[in-house]
Amino acid sequence: MAFESHAKIERNVTILAVLTLVVVMIGGLVQLVPLFFLENTIEKVEGVRPYTPLELAGRNIYIREGCYTCHSQMIRPFRDEAERFGHYSLAAESMYDHPFQWGSKRTGPDLARVGNRYSDEWHAQHLVNPRDVVPESIMPAYPFLKERLLDTTDIAGHLKANRTVGVPYSDEQVKNALADMQAQAVSDGDPTDLQRRYPKAQVRDFDGDPTRLTEMDALIAYLQMLGTLVDLDAYVPEQNRR
Ligand code: HEC
Repeated sequence: MAFESHAKIERNVTILAVLTLVVVMIGGLVQLVPLFFLENTIEKVEGVRPYTPLELAGRNIYIREGCYTCHSQMIRPFRDEAERFGHYSLAAESMYDHPFQWGSKRTGPDLARVGNRYSDEWHAQHLVNPRDVVPESIMPAYPFLKERLLDTTDIAGHLKANRTVGVPYSDEQVKNALADMQAQAVSDGDPTDLQRRYPKAQVRDFDGDPTRLTEMDALIAYLQMLGTLVDLDAYVPEQNRR
């Protein structure tokens, strides 16, 4: 009897299609529905914080200049990648990225852990003319970054925009966006408030010209923080914690 009714399904393409659809839908629901009841699908990792205003401005320049077309920011959990670039990327490390910068092509190396690997002078020289420090480099030169003053007028707006899409910037952080941006790149300011709001923020003149706040300052501040927020020697994946 069961065999006969199954024969009916197999010989009637409409019934077969409808029933197939029902089965696929059940499978889909079983996968999807639990996700709606999870607060967060990203494991929390200590040290990850939203970008400082200066880093955020640098990140905007990174996007504007299309650095992501040649550079990825995602180290996959494979031995060859981890040996070359460092600890594999954690989901939490890009949780405040809107849009994320994982990239899809590596003409140049992955940058997810490039922070603190080179000096600021190296970065400045490399961005002005990559061939000066890496003779065989095919990376384009960005000498104008050193000349262009950083646009400071809309930084609070950028923080607010990020807040709209879920980055937990506080009112205090938005209110002090401009002051924090200047405090991070000006060596004679008092960085206490900045570092309370953004732990591990690196404070100094980044572009070698302490008299001006340039786009180079912002971009290098961004590059130097990449991959530096999480203490990876102490990191244990959630499923291995007791
Ligand atoms: C056309 C592709 C291309 C673009 C666009 C590009 N790069 Fe590169 N980048 C490379 C290549 C190739 C290298 C490796 C050679 C070298 O070090 O110059 C590199 C190297 C680097 C390095 C050194 C990484 C390391 O671990 O040694 C940094 C930092 C970097 N690029 C930053 C940037 C930034 C910031 C931008 C955007 C302003 C950018 N790149 C745009 C191709 C590119």
